[in-house]
Amino acid sequence: MSRLSTGVGTGRRDRHGPAPWIIGRLPESRWEDFRTLRLKALQQDSKAFGSSYEEEVTYGKETWIGRIESVIFALIDDRPVGMISIIKRNRIKTGHAADIFGMYVAPDYRGKGIGDDLVKNAISVASKFDGVIKVVLSVNPKQEAALNLYRKNGFEVAGEFKKELLVDGEYYDEFVMERFL
Ligand SMILES: CC(C)(COP(=O)(O)OP(=O)(O)OC[C@H]1O[C@@H](n2cnc3c(N)ncnc32)[C@H](O)[C@@H]1OP(=O)(O)O)[C@@H](O)C(=O)NCCC(=O)NCCS
Repeated sequence: MSRLSTGVGTGRRDRHGPAPWIIGRLPESRWEDFRTLRLKALQQDSKAFGSSYEEEVTYGKETWIGRIESVIFALIDDRPVGMISIIKRNRIKTGHAADIFGMYVAPDYRGKGIGDDLVKNAISVASKFDGVIKVVLSVNPKQEAALNLYRKNGFEVAGEFKKELLVDGEYYDEFVMERFL
């Protein structure tokens, strides 16, 4: 596992030494750990994501390997308990923006500062992308913890899609948020 230079155990709620988690990447060989956490996220918090468990459970090994390089993980005892994805856009006219998605912390580990650490690391990674001036994400405003987390880290609502998600027969709006670097 390669560690990110900025994010090793920076949890704010620790008063007695380093935070018990590590922020870092996982190699392609750990794709099954990524798959397990992602499918858990889609099952447990289905209103938080545009994708669904039913779709992603069908994805094969190559798809997970292709995705893992964009993921920053929070690990405890080498086990991923949280994650966030960040990708620089690759088109000529939009390559100055990076997208954040797939933010998730497993329920047992919430409220400890892991999500905050992950977002700060993603912003730090984005600021090192060549030419990138802003980070963009979308969030279901019913996901109050996520909305607060993004606001706390300088994201502002840039717009709103009405009835953007349809989950279990109910429509949900989505906020588009952006943060300039
Ligand atoms: C959103 C999520 C990642 C937060 O992770 P976390 O590790 O619990 O977050 P942290 O402990 O780092 O908290 C950081 C900030 O988030 C906000 N927050 C966290 N939990 C909250 C809660 N239960 N209620 C309100 N705000 C909350 C607060 O602003 C908090 O900062 P503060 O403690 O200084 O007030 C987690 O709740 C989660 O995975 N939710 C389900 C998936 C999801 O909504 N993903 C977003 C997709 S866009």
